[in-house]
Amino acid sequence: MEALLQQIEQYKKEIAAVEASTAEAVENFRIQYLGTKGLVKSVMGEMKNVPNEQKKAFGQLLNEFKSFVENKFEVLQAAITNTDAGTENQIDWSLPGSHVPVGTRHPLSMIRNQVVSIFKSLGFAIAEGPEIEDDWHNFGAMNLPEDHPARDMQDTFYINQNPSWLLRTHTSSVQARVMETQKPPIRVICPGRVYRNETISARAHCFFHQVEGLYIDEHASFADLKQTLYFFVQEMFGKDVKVRFRPSYFPFTEPSAEMDISCLICGGDGCNVCKHTGWVEILGSGMVHPKVLENFGIDPNKYTGFAFGMGIERICQLKYRVNDLRLYSQNDIRFLKQFTGVV
Ligand code: DAH
Repeated sequence: MEALLQQIEQYKKEIAAVEASTAEAVENFRIQYLGTKGLVKSVMGEMKNVPNEQKKAFGQLLNEFKSFVENKFEVLQAAITNTDAGTENQIDWSLPGSHVPVGTRHPLSMIRNQVVSIFKSLGFAIAEGPEIEDDWHNFGAMNLPEDHPARDMQDTFYINQNPSWLLRTHTSSVQARVMETQKPPIRVICPGRVYRNETISARAHCFFHQVEGLYIDEHASFADLKQTLYFFVQEMFGKDVKVRFRPSYFPFTEPSAEMDISCLICGGDGCNVCKHTGWVEILGSGMVHPKVLENFGIDPNKYTGFAFGMGIERICQLKYRVNDLRLYSQNDIRFLKQFTGVV
Protein backbone atom coordinates (compact mmCIF):
# COMPACT_ATOMS: atom_id res chain seq x y z
CA MET A 1 0.00 0.00 0.00
CA GLU A 2 2.63 2.46 1.14
CA ALA A 3 4.71 1.69 -1.93
CA LEU A 4 1.74 2.34 -4.16
CA LEU A 5 1.03 5.69 -2.56
CA GLN A 6 4.60 6.73 -3.12
CA GLN A 7 4.44 5.52 -6.65
CA ILE A 8 1.36 7.67 -7.33
CA GLU A 9 3.08 10.72 -5.88
CA GLN A 10 6.01 10.02 -8.17
CA TYR A 11 3.71 9.75 -11.19
CA LYS A 12 2.07 13.03 -10.27
CA LYS A 13 5.42 14.79 -10.25
CA GLU A 14 6.31 13.34 -13.63
CA ILE A 15 2.96 14.28 -15.12
CA ALA A 16 3.05 17.80 -13.74
CA ALA A 17 6.34 18.28 -15.56
CA VAL A 18 5.10 17.07 -18.98
CA GLU A 19 5.17 19.66 -21.72
CA ALA A 20 3.48 19.30 -25.11
CA SER A 21 3.53 21.92 -27.79
CA THR A 22 1.87 20.09 -30.67
CA ALA A 23 -1.47 18.35 -31.13
CA GLU A 24 0.41 15.13 -31.69
CA ALA A 25 2.25 15.43 -28.39
CA VAL A 26 -1.01 16.14 -26.57
CA GLU A 27 -2.58 13.11 -28.18
CA ASN A 28 0.39 11.01 -27.13
CA PHE A 29 -0.07 12.25 -23.59
CA ARG A 30 -3.72 11.20 -23.74
CA ILE A 31 -2.86 7.75 -25.03
CA GLN A 32 -0.03 7.21 -22.56
CA TYR A 33 -1.93 8.31 -19.48
CA LEU A 34 -5.65 8.24 -20.20
CA GLY A 35 -5.97 5.67 -23.02
CA THR A 36 -7.52 2.25 -22.57
CA LYS A 37 -4.07 0.79 -21.96
CA GLY A 38 -2.80 3.93 -20.25
CA LEU A 39 -1.29 4.55 -16.85
CA VAL A 40 -4.49 5.65 -15.11
CA LYS A 41 -6.23 2.43 -16.12
CA SER A 42 -3.37 0.29 -14.86
CA VAL A 43 -3.15 2.15 -11.55
CA MET A 44 -6.91 1.72 -11.19
CA GLY A 45 -6.34 -1.99 -11.72
CA GLU A 46 -4.39 -2.09 -8.42
CA MET A 47 -7.68 -1.66 -6.61
CA LYS A 48 -8.23 -5.40 -6.60
CA ASN A 49 -5.09 -5.92 -4.50
CA VAL A 50 -6.13 -3.45 -1.83
CA PRO A 51 -7.53 -4.97 1.39
CA ASN A 52 -11.27 -4.40 1.81
CA GLU A 53 -11.07 -2.01 4.76
CA GLN A 54 -8.80 0.30 2.80
CA LYS A 55 -10.76 0.22 -0.45
CA LYS A 56 -12.80 3.32 0.27
CA ALA A 57 -9.86 5.58 1.10
CA PHE A 58 -7.83 4.17 -1.73
CA GLY A 59 -10.66 4.60 -4.20
CA GLN A 60 -10.87 8.26 -3.33
CA LEU A 61 -7.17 8.64 -3.88
CA LEU A 62 -7.36 6.98 -7.27
CA ASN A 63 -10.21 9.22 -8.34
CA GLU A 64 -8.20 12.25 -7.33
CA PHE A 65 -5.28 10.94 -9.33
CA LYS A 66 -7.49 10.45 -12.37
CA SER A 67 -8.90 13.98 -12.12
CA PHE A 68 -5.36 15.28 -11.76
CA VAL A 69 -4.33 13.64 -15.05
CA GLU A 70 -7.50 14.73 -16.83
CA ASN A 71 -6.95 18.24 -15.67
CA LYS A 72 -3.40 18.25 -16.97
CA PHE A 73 -4.67 16.94 -20.32
CA GLU A 74 -7.17 19.78 -20.56
CA VAL A 75 -4.49 22.33 -19.74
CA LEU A 76 -2.18 20.93 -22.43
CA GLN A 77 -5.01 20.89 -24.94
CA ALA A 78 -6.07 24.44 -24.20
CA ALA A 79 -2.48 25.60 -24.59
CA ILE A 80 -2.09 24.23 -28.11
CA THR A 81 -5.49 25.41 -29.39
CA ASN A 82 -4.43 28.92 -28.41
CA THR A 83 -1.40 28.82 -30.69
CA ASP A 84 -1.43 28.91 -34.46
CA ALA A 85 0.75 25.86 -34.71
CA GLY A 86 -1.64 23.96 -32.51
CA THR A 87 -4.70 24.85 -34.57
CA GLU A 88 -2.92 23.88 -37.72
CA ASN A 89 -2.00 20.50 -36.31
CA GLN A 90 -5.36 19.87 -34.85
CA ILE A 91 -7.57 20.11 -37.90
CA ASP A 92 -6.57 18.19 -40.97
CA TRP A 93 -9.11 19.25 -43.56
CA SER A 94 -8.02 16.53 -45.95
CA LEU A 95 -9.07 13.69 -43.64
CA PRO A 96 -11.97 11.63 -44.96
CA GLY A 97 -15.26 12.07 -43.09
CA SER A 98 -16.23 9.47 -40.53
CA HIS A 99 -18.83 6.95 -41.62
CA VAL A 100 -22.22 7.33 -40.01
CA PRO A 101 -24.16 4.10 -40.45
CA VAL A 102 -27.70 4.69 -41.65
CA GLY A 103 -30.48 2.69 -40.07
CA THR A 104 -33.47 1.27 -41.90
CA ARG A 105 -37.15 1.47 -41.28
CA HIS A 106 -38.53 -1.61 -39.55
CA PRO A 107 -40.41 -3.83 -42.04
CA LEU A 108 -43.57 -3.65 -39.93
CA SER A 109 -43.43 0.15 -40.01
CA MET A 110 -43.02 0.04 -43.77
CA ILE A 111 -46.09 -2.15 -44.19
CA ARG A 112 -48.10 -0.04 -41.75
CA ASN A 113 -47.17 3.10 -43.67
CA GLN A 114 -48.20 1.50 -46.95
CA VAL A 115 -51.53 0.34 -45.56
CA VAL A 116 -52.16 3.78 -44.09
CA SER A 117 -51.34 5.58 -47.31
CA ILE A 118 -53.62 3.31 -49.38
CA PHE A 119 -56.58 4.01 -47.11
CA LYS A 120 -55.68 7.68 -46.88
CA SER A 121 -56.00 7.88 -50.65
CA LEU A 122 -59.62 6.70 -50.18
CA GLY A 123 -60.26 9.47 -47.67
CA PHE A 124 -59.82 7.50 -44.43
CA ALA A 125 -58.44 9.42 -41.44
CA ILE A 126 -56.12 7.88 -38.83
CA ALA A 127 -57.34 7.25 -35.30
CA GLU A 128 -55.38 5.96 -32.31
CA GLY A 129 -56.28 4.61 -28.90
CA PRO A 130 -54.54 3.40 -25.74
CA GLU A 131 -52.81 0.01 -25.51
CA ILE A 132 -53.94 -0.36 -21.90
CA GLU A 133 -57.71 -0.51 -22.30
CA ASP A 134 -60.74 -1.09 -20.17
CA ASP A 135 -63.03 -4.06 -20.57
CA TRP A 136 -65.78 -1.94 -22.10
CA HIS A 137 -63.86 -0.58 -25.07
CA ASN A 138 -62.07 -3.84 -25.83
CA PHE A 139 -64.97 -6.24 -25.29
CA GLY A 140 -68.27 -4.93 -23.91
CA ALA A 141 -68.88 -2.19 -26.46
CA MET A 142 -67.91 -4.54 -29.25
CA ASN A 143 -70.78 -6.86 -28.33
CA LEU A 144 -68.59 -9.27 -26.36
CA PRO A 145 -70.21 -9.14 -22.92
CA GLU A 146 -68.59 -10.89 -19.98
CA ASP A 147 -68.90 -14.68 -20.28
CA HIS A 148 -69.36 -14.44 -24.05
CA PRO A 149 -67.67 -17.55 -25.45
CA ALA A 150 -66.04 -15.53 -28.26
CA ARG A 151 -63.77 -13.95 -25.63
CA ASP A 152 -61.94 -17.27 -25.67
CA MET A 153 -60.65 -16.44 -29.15
CA GLN A 154 -58.48 -13.73 -27.64
CA ASP A 155 -56.55 -14.87 -24.58
CA THR A 156 -56.12 -11.67 -22.64
CA PHE A 157 -53.48 -10.10 -20.39
CA TYR A 158 -55.16 -8.39 -17.44
CA ILE A 159 -53.49 -5.75 -15.26
CA ASN A 160 -52.91 -6.97 -11.69
CA GLN A 161 -53.56 -3.66 -9.96
CA ASN A 162 -56.94 -3.30 -11.58
CA PRO A 163 -58.53 -6.34 -13.23
CA SER A 164 -60.92 -4.16 -15.23
CA TRP A 165 -57.89 -2.98 -17.20
CA LEU A 166 -56.27 -5.12 -19.84
CA LEU A 167 -53.84 -4.94 -22.73
CA ARG A 168 -56.02 -4.50 -25.80
CA THR A 169 -56.38 -7.73 -27.75
CA HIS A 170 -57.38 -6.04 -31.00
CA THR A 171 -57.54 -2.58 -32.53
CA SER A 172 -61.34 -2.91 -32.64
CA SER A 173 -61.16 -1.12 -29.27
CA VAL A 174 -60.23 2.02 -31.21
CA GLN A 175 -63.47 1.69 -33.22
CA ALA A 176 -65.29 1.99 -29.91
CA ARG A 177 -63.32 5.09 -28.97
CA VAL A 178 -63.98 6.70 -32.34
CA MET A 179 -67.73 6.06 -32.20
CA GLU A 180 -67.74 7.51 -28.71
CA THR A 181 -66.35 10.83 -29.86
CA GLN A 182 -67.36 11.22 -33.52
CA LYS A 183 -70.67 11.39 -35.33
CA PRO A 184 -71.22 9.71 -38.71
CA PRO A 185 -70.12 9.90 -41.43
CA ILE A 186 -67.03 8.15 -40.01
CA ARG A 187 -64.14 6.89 -42.09
CA VAL A 188 -61.08 5.90 -40.04
CA ILE A 189 -58.26 3.43 -39.92
CA CYS A 190 -56.55 2.58 -36.67
CA PRO A 191 -53.06 1.07 -36.79
CA GLY A 192 -51.56 -0.19 -33.55
CA ARG A 193 -50.01 -2.85 -31.35
CA VAL A 194 -52.15 -5.51 -29.68
CA TYR A 195 -51.42 -8.18 -27.07
CA ARG A 196 -52.51 -11.74 -26.48
CA ASN A 197 -51.42 -14.34 -23.98
CA GLU A 198 -49.84 -16.70 -26.50
CA THR A 199 -46.74 -18.79 -26.17
CA ILE A 200 -44.08 -17.26 -28.39
CA SER A 201 -43.23 -19.38 -31.43
CA ALA A 202 -42.58 -18.93 -35.14
CA ARG A 203 -46.34 -18.62 -35.71
CA ALA A 204 -47.60 -16.83 -32.59
CA HIS A 205 -46.45 -13.95 -30.44
CA CYS A 206 -47.68 -12.21 -27.32
CA PHE A 207 -47.75 -8.90 -29.17
CA PHE A 208 -48.35 -8.07 -32.79
CA HIS A 209 -49.83 -5.32 -34.94
CA GLN A 210 -53.15 -4.69 -36.60
CA VAL A 211 -54.86 -2.10 -38.72
CA GLU A 212 -58.55 -1.64 -38.09
CA GLY A 213 -60.92 0.09 -40.49
CA LEU A 214 -64.33 1.61 -39.79
CA TYR A 215 -66.76 3.23 -42.21
CA ILE A 216 -70.18 4.45 -41.13
CA ASP A 217 -72.58 6.39 -43.31
CA GLU A 218 -76.20 6.44 -44.40
CA HIS A 219 -76.02 3.86 -47.15
CA ALA A 220 -72.82 1.93 -46.47
CA SER A 221 -73.26 -1.58 -47.87
CA PHE A 222 -71.46 -4.88 -48.07
CA ALA A 223 -70.67 -3.99 -51.70
CA ASP A 224 -68.77 -0.92 -50.41
CA LEU A 225 -66.88 -3.15 -47.99
CA LYS A 226 -65.88 -5.53 -50.79
CA GLN A 227 -64.89 -2.81 -53.20
CA THR A 228 -62.80 -1.02 -50.58
CA LEU A 229 -60.95 -4.20 -49.72
CA TYR A 230 -60.44 -5.22 -53.37
CA PHE A 231 -58.89 -1.84 -53.97
CA PHE A 232 -56.64 -2.27 -50.96
CA VAL A 233 -55.44 -5.71 -52.05
CA GLN A 234 -54.65 -4.56 -55.58
CA GLU A 235 -52.68 -1.57 -54.33
CA MET A 236 -50.85 -3.62 -51.75
CA PHE A 237 -50.14 -6.85 -53.64
CA GLY A 238 -50.68 -6.04 -57.32
CA LYS A 239 -53.44 -6.58 -59.87
CA ASP A 240 -52.92 -10.32 -60.33
CA VAL A 241 -53.76 -11.35 -56.81
CA LYS A 242 -57.07 -13.17 -56.44
CA VAL A 243 -59.45 -12.51 -53.57
CA ARG A 244 -62.20 -14.54 -51.93
CA PHE A 245 -64.57 -13.95 -49.01
CA ARG A 246 -65.60 -16.69 -46.60
CA PRO A 247 -68.52 -16.40 -44.18
CA SER A 248 -67.27 -16.11 -40.61
CA TYR A 249 -68.32 -14.98 -37.18
CA PHE A 250 -67.35 -11.90 -35.15
CA PRO A 251 -69.69 -10.64 -32.43
CA PHE A 252 -69.25 -7.04 -33.58
CA THR A 253 -70.28 -7.57 -37.20
CA GLU A 254 -73.29 -9.13 -38.91
CA PRO A 255 -72.83 -10.58 -41.45
CA SER A 256 -69.13 -11.29 -40.98
CA ALA A 257 -66.58 -12.51 -43.47
CA GLU A 258 -62.93 -13.37 -43.64
CA MET A 259 -60.99 -12.42 -46.70
CA ASP A 260 -58.36 -14.65 -48.29
CA ILE A 261 -55.94 -13.80 -51.06
CA SER A 262 -54.22 -16.23 -53.40
CA CYS A 263 -50.94 -17.31 -51.82
CA LEU A 264 -48.10 -15.03 -52.88
CA ILE A 265 -45.45 -17.48 -51.78
CA CYS A 266 -46.42 -20.36 -54.10
CA GLY A 267 -48.69 -18.48 -56.52
CA GLY A 268 -51.60 -20.69 -55.51
CA ASP A 269 -49.95 -24.06 -56.13
CA GLY A 270 -49.83 -24.95 -52.44
CA CYS A 271 -47.06 -24.53 -49.84
CA ASN A 272 -46.50 -24.47 -46.07
CA VAL A 273 -47.69 -20.89 -45.67
CA CYS A 274 -51.08 -21.54 -47.28
CA LYS A 275 -51.23 -25.03 -45.80
CA HIS A 276 -51.43 -26.37 -49.34
CA THR A 277 -54.75 -24.67 -50.08
CA GLY A 278 -53.41 -21.90 -52.32
CA TRP A 279 -55.21 -19.29 -50.17
CA VAL A 280 -54.19 -17.28 -47.10
CA GLU A 281 -56.44 -15.38 -44.77
CA ILE A 282 -55.51 -11.73 -44.42
CA LEU A 283 -58.36 -10.07 -42.59
CA GLY A 284 -61.68 -10.25 -40.78
CA SER A 285 -64.52 -7.95 -41.72
CA GLY A 286 -68.25 -7.39 -41.76
CA MET A 287 -71.14 -4.99 -41.39
CA VAL A 288 -71.04 -3.27 -38.01
CA HIS A 289 -73.53 -5.01 -35.70
CA PRO A 290 -76.59 -2.80 -34.97
CA LYS A 291 -75.98 -3.35 -31.23
CA VAL A 292 -72.50 -1.85 -31.55
CA LEU A 293 -73.95 1.23 -33.25
CA GLU A 294 -76.61 1.52 -30.54
CA ASN A 295 -73.93 1.31 -27.84
CA PHE A 296 -72.75 4.68 -29.07
CA GLY A 297 -76.10 6.29 -29.77
CA ILE A 298 -75.86 5.84 -33.54
CA ASP A 299 -79.27 5.02 -35.00
CA PRO A 300 -78.97 1.67 -36.89
CA ASN A 301 -82.10 2.47 -38.89
CA LYS A 302 -80.44 5.52 -40.34
CA TYR A 303 -76.80 4.46 -40.47
CA THR A 304 -74.98 1.33 -41.50
CA GLY A 305 -71.28 0.65 -41.46
CA PHE A 306 -68.57 -1.80 -42.34
CA ALA A 307 -65.42 -2.67 -40.47
CA PHE A 308 -62.34 -4.78 -40.97
CA GLY A 309 -59.19 -5.74 -39.10
CA MET A 310 -55.94 -7.08 -40.50
CA GLY A 311 -52.63 -8.28 -39.10
CA ILE A 312 -49.58 -6.35 -40.26
CA GLU A 313 -47.20 -9.26 -39.60
CA ARG A 314 -49.21 -11.49 -41.92
CA ILE A 315 -49.03 -8.97 -44.76
CA CYS A 316 -45.33 -8.56 -44.15
CA GLN A 317 -44.87 -12.34 -44.19
CA LEU A 318 -46.56 -12.55 -47.58
CA LYS A 319 -44.78 -9.57 -49.10
CA TYR A 320 -41.29 -10.21 -47.78
CA ARG A 321 -41.45 -13.94 -47.03
CA VAL A 322 -40.66 -13.61 -43.36
CA ASN A 323 -41.39 -17.05 -41.99
CA ASP A 324 -40.81 -16.57 -38.27
CA LEU A 325 -42.75 -14.00 -36.22
CA ARG A 326 -39.97 -13.79 -33.65
CA LEU A 327 -37.67 -12.09 -36.15
CA TYR A 328 -39.68 -8.88 -35.93
CA SER A 329 -38.81 -8.22 -32.32
CA GLN A 330 -35.31 -9.64 -31.98
CA ASN A 331 -33.60 -6.55 -33.39
CA ASP A 332 -31.13 -8.71 -35.27
CA ILE A 333 -29.28 -6.38 -37.59
CA ARG A 334 -28.80 -9.17 -40.16
CA PHE A 335 -32.59 -9.34 -40.51
CA LEU A 336 -33.27 -5.62 -40.38
CA LYS A 337 -30.63 -4.60 -42.88
CA GLN A 338 -32.24 -6.76 -45.55
CA PHE A 339 -34.90 -4.06 -45.78
CA THR A 340 -32.45 -1.29 -46.64
CA GLY A 341 -33.90 0.80 -49.44
CA VAL A 342 -37.06 -1.30 -49.77
CA VAL A 343 -39.37 1.69 -49.38
N1 DAH B 1 -60.84 -7.82 -34.18
C1 DAH B 1 -60.72 -8.99 -35.02
C2 DAH B 1 -59.51 -9.81 -34.53
O1 DAH B 1 -58.67 -9.29 -33.91
C3 DAH B 1 -60.52 -8.62 -36.46
C4 DAH B 1 -61.74 -7.98 -37.02
C5 DAH B 1 -62.72 -8.76 -37.61
C6 DAH B 1 -61.92 -6.60 -36.96
C7 DAH B 1 -63.85 -8.20 -38.14
C8 DAH B 1 -63.07 -6.02 -37.52
C9 DAH B 1 -64.02 -6.85 -38.09
O2 DAH B 1 -63.28 -4.72 -37.49
O3 DAH B 1 -65.12 -6.26 -38.60
O4 DAH B 1 -59.48 -10.97 -34.80
